[in-house]
Amino acid sequence: MRIAVLGGDGFVGWPTALHLSNLGHDIHIVDNLSRRWIDTELGVQSLTPMDSIQERCRIWHQETGKRIHFHLLNLAEEFERLKSWLAEMRPDAVIHFAEQRAAPYSMKTDRHKVYTVNNNTNATHNLLAALVETGIDAHLVHLGTMGVYGYSSVGAPIPEGYLDIQIETPDGPREQQVLYPTRPGSVYHMTKSLDQIMFQFYAQNDGLRITDLHQGIVWGTHTDQTRRHEQLINRFDYDGDYGTVLNRFLIQAAIGHPLTVHGTGGQTRAFIHIQDSVRCIELALRDAPQAGERVRIFNQMTETHRVRDLAELVARLTDARVAYLPNPRKEADENDLIVRNDQFLALGLEPITLADGLLTEVVEVAKKYAHRIDRSRVPAVSAWTKDIAKRVEHDPEGKRLRSVS
Ligand SMILES: NC(=O)c1ccc[n+]([C@@H]2O[C@H](COP(=O)([O-])OP(=O)(O)OC[C@H]3O[C@@H](n4cnc5c(N)ncnc54)[C@H](O)[C@@H]3O)[C@@H](O)[C@H]2O)c1
Repeated sequence: MRIAVLGGDGFVGWPTALHLSNLGHDIHIVDNLSRRWIDTELGVQSLTPMDSIQERCRIWHQETGKRIHFHLLNLAEEFERLKSWLAEMRPDAVIHFAEQRAAPYSMKTDRHKVYTVNNNTNATHNLLAALVETGIDAHLVHLGTMGVYGYSSVGAPIPEGYLDIQIETPDGPREQQVLYPTRPGSVYHMTKSLDQIMFQFYAQNDGLRITDLHQGIVWGTHTDQTRRHEQLINRFDYDGDYGTVLNRFLIQAAIGHPLTVHGTGGQTRAFIHIQDSVRCIELALRDAPQAGERVRIFNQMTETHRVRDLAELVARLTDARVAYLPNPRKEADENDLIVRNDQFLALGLEPITLADGLLTEVVEVAKKYAHRIDRSRVPAVSAWTKDIAKRVEHDPEGKRLRSVS
């Protein structure tokens, strides 16, 4: 298949491009490299040294003889170019990763909120409108997030996208299926909730074939393909905005930083290893919906964990200290989370779980590149409201210079 990987220079996009190229697909990455610019804006860098996307593609060709093509294009701002690019390339499938994906970054300031909404909703809508206009019948696979559902305890498992309900009509009760209600907890999650509505509309109005993957928090860094050469290494974020919770604990442990748990650590979240993430995308690609079918929605996660349990697990493995800090987010202190993922299991996914030894592999990667870490960027300081900002802990290590007067 010819596959367009939009956002293919990113943390999940790059290993996905490698995985699918390895399987023999013709891969075209489209990316505006905004994520690299955000590193510059925040004054951070990936823990792992990342080469340019052109160099990464060159090394892949050198190692495998296979070509991955790169196209510099802003999906949110260059609609006409996107349309002509699609018309020329005519991909069989499009995988859409190309959004601003950090909840803390989306809550940093009003400017970051506006950027996240403009970028994410325009990127998604431009793509949908361009697919309709060019008449390309590509299967669109989008990376959404479990976070659209919010994190209040419901008691019942979160189904895969749709909820069976019964409504009262004048003729008696009637069964219906509706999109499972979203309850976004950040501007970023709000944009992903809006994406869902756009997908629903374009699937029903234009017969676009869409799969939306509601992904859990991705952990780990290597996949079978990124391990093949030092310069194929994946990006690995550790900073307070882009670092995701388990990866941050592992990095903190590797550099002797306290493991920073927000609030009581009673938040329960869904997780998936990066290798499983790319495998799920492959499975979803093989199982495309028909035109006229409703949007196919999968929960792309393999396990759930309470944040403080994860911190204690990593602390036990590594002798690290856990620091409980005020929570910069506005969210429930404690929640339960039960998630169904029957569809991927039925398609043959064999989940990699935390117990499988990969935790220590990540600590090893973190130790190897520890010299690249700026410790002052580790704390999460983007607050959800102005009131919360007053209590955010900027210095969990107590290293700030103190006044002696
Ligand atoms: N990483 C996770 O834990 C996680 C969890 C759940 C869902 N997801 C979803 O998976 C997708 C990929 O996540 P990631 O961690 O790889 O993020 P990432 O930020 O590493 O990658 C996103 C890529 O998209 C590109 N991009 C952003 N806006 C663009 C635009 N307008 N035009 C062209 N390119 C653009 C960026 O430059 C970047 O390379 C995201 O949509 C995210 O919401 C990620």
